[in-house]
Parts: sequence; structure tokens; C-alpha cells
Amino acid sequence: MYDFKPDPASDAGEIHRQLLGAADALTSGEPDAIANMANVAALLWELLPDLNWAGFYRVAPDKNGAGRELVLGPFVGRPACIRIPFGKGVCGTAAESRAAQLVEDVHAFPGHIACDAASRSELVVPVLRNGEVIAVIDLDSPSPARFTPDDAEGITALAELLSTRI
Ligand code: SME
Repeated sequence: MYDFKPDPASDAGEIHRQLLGAADALTSGEPDAIANMANVAALLWELLPDLNWAGFYRVAPDKNGAGRELVLGPFVGRPACIRIPFGKGVCGTAAESRAAQLVEDVHAFPGHIACDAASRSELVVPVLRNGEVIAVIDLDSPSPARFTPDDAEGITALAELLSTRI
């Protein structure tokens, strides 16, 4: 059994240190990408307060096999849109730009894709391998401006850890 519940008094920096340590312990030496993404989605959900969705979109072939797009991966939350083209929505923007997207108000983000009407703010961080985007980590919150630059930094460190593990 794994028990990664943080001390409720932990600040964001401490939570991110615990998140990175737990993700490292859970994925170290495990080559199965789906298992690793599933466990990390569960960890994000357990450790980060005030989320309504936490998970992955993977870069995968489109339905015609003609190109690549984001395809839903392991997550915790409500069922979500399955395919997102590069450049579309917050996730597609993160994938295309290979840069984290910290969105304080999703209603103000042009082209935001609403998978859960409860979402008010969002953080999406690309996972890169050899400079190429292979997935994005997507976090949604029902609270406006839930995510801070410290969260973006913490999730970027997580994405770097996962670069060769998913
Ligand atoms: N809001 C995202 C879509 C994914 S869901 O939030 C899970 C976007 O605009 O790309």
C-alpha cells in the first residue's frame, strides 16, 4: 500500500517536493508508461488541493494516421475530450509551443476546450524528450487563479522526471 497524503499544513513548495519524491519512487525502474502515468495522475489528485481534473494527454497518431495530435491518457476527474489537435485549447497550445500554460481564467483563454464546466483555471505543462513534446500534464481547478508560478515550476520538474518514464 502507498500512502502519500501530505500534512495539511504543507505549503506549495513542500507539496511539490513530496510530489516529486513520490513520483520518483513510484516510477523508478518501471518501464510501463501507462502504469506510470496512471500512478502520477493519482498522486497529483491526492497531493494537490482544489483540483477537478488531473492527468495526461499523450502525443499519438491521429485517426487517419496522417499526423499526430494529443490523445487522452490516464487521468482522475470527469470523462474528457479524447483528441486535441496541436495549437487548440490550452493543452494544444502547450504542446505546440512546448511551453507551460498557466491560465488564471479559462473563460478568458481564446479557444479553451471545456471538458468540465466546473473548471475555472488550468495549468498545462509539456513533457519533452530530446526536445520533442511527447505528452502534456493537465491540471484543472474549480477555483479561479488556483495555480501559481511555483506550481508551474513544480510540475515542470515533474515533467522532466517523467521524460524517460512515460
Ligand atoms: N481544457 C483543456 C482540455 C482538456 S480538459 O481540461 C481535461 C484545453 O483547453 O486544452
